[in-house]
Amino acid sequence: MTILACAEVPFFEISPIICVVGARPNFMKMAPVLRAMSAHFPPLPAVLVHTGQHYDRDMCDCLFEALHLPQPDINLEVGSGTHAVQTADIMRKFEPVLDAHKPSCIIVVGDVNSTLACTLVAAKKNIPAVHIEAGLRSHDRAMPEEINRVLTDQISDRLYYTERMAEENLRQEGILLDRVCFVGNVMIDSVMFGMANARCVKETLNTLHVDSTLVSGPLGYGVVTLHRPSNVDHPETLRALLEVLGEVSASIPLVFPVHPRTRSNIERFGLMPLIDPTRIVMLPAQGYLEMLGFLAGASLVLTDSGGLQEETTALGVPCLTLRDSTERPITVEQGTNTLVGRNRDAICGAVKEILLGKGKRGRIPELWDGHAAERIVADLYQWLHTKVAAMPSNTALQ
Ligand code: UD1
Repeated sequence: MTILACAEVPFFEISPIICVVGARPNFMKMAPVLRAMSAHFPPLPAVLVHTGQHYDRDMCDCLFEALHLPQPDINLEVGSGTHAVQTADIMRKFEPVLDAHKPSCIIVVGDVNSTLACTLVAAKKNIPAVHIEAGLRSHDRAMPEEINRVLTDQISDRLYYTERMAEENLRQEGILLDRVCFVGNVMIDSVMFGMANARCVKETLNTLHVDSTLVSGPLGYGVVTLHRPSNVDHPETLRALLEVLGEVSASIPLVFPVHPRTRSNIERFGLMPLIDPTRIVMLPAQGYLEMLGFLAGASLVLTDSGGLQEETTALGVPCLTLRDSTERPITVEQGTNTLVGRNRDAICGAVKEILLGKGKRGRIPELWDGHAAERIVADLYQWLHTKVAAMPSNTALQ
């Protein structure tokens, strides 16, 4: 008897699907996908592989707990290294995983080194790769993530994208549109899932022994994050940015959860004296629920993160992106995001406007509705069925 699973797709046997995570922004993208895979009928079997690109408790373990991500089935424990070393180590350690599990496909998310490394291994072994968050382009090849995006999309077999501009980018790069599918944004699935348990800002600060009255003034507080190599790896650039943040903090206190790369560079370049701890609260990298609490309560956000541009749009919080380009243009066109680069006047002018109540209000982009992962899994099931059905002398289909 044929069991109808979804729409007209008959029941068929699915080999495990290897789901890859490696760095902090991957965890919030994969968590809703894994939930949707187990909620699907029939459930899609997953093997969760963590490359270990990020390994600190702050950058990794806390996020697994907050996002209800299951513990990884396999941890490749690659750790830090140059891009070449890190990418090569991931590839070398991922290949035996594919040999052992013979998956029906792998799923990768985002644009980090783990994303490209694992996709490349799968492509060489003729194992289909599925890329979630395909087609985003900053058109800035100096960003390591841009290289990862372009190459991952070229060798992926199924590409899920978050905003319509991505389809145009993929088309321009010669990718056949029958491989792509508009599903919305899994980051927003996680925001909606997490907001119910977002941590109260005062509690978070109290736990960290920080005086919470600092953020209780009439203008509230701003949140800062910085970690892009282009912003934090050169002493003069980082100095200039910290000086501008100093100016901004004269108007509004800033909460600054500091990425390990950034903290080590601030210390190495001797820039700590630029930070007035009575106006800029430096914190360790924050957990997901703590960060959602900080973002949701903020008057403004200053960041160079891709994820925060999307999260602030979803939360309706004005965001100033300290970069000259964004791979997420919809957050500027429809959301609350403004690109201000590293220009002092642009940054201070935009902060002033926001504090006068003239910040962007934005609207929620199409399909950023908390159900992107369900759409991905429904499509994935059908797509895998089509592949299995096309196999010669297929025995899996009944
Ligand atoms: C990586 C991603 C970037 C993503 C960011 C989020 C790439 C190319 N970049 O950048 O897209 O936005 O993660 O955080 O994949 N470190 C620790 N503990 C950790 C992880 C890193 O101390 O758990 C330190 C190490 O000194 C390391 C440095 O941070 O050398 C940079 O880490 P890495 O993973 O290479 O890149 P990110 O800057 O985090």
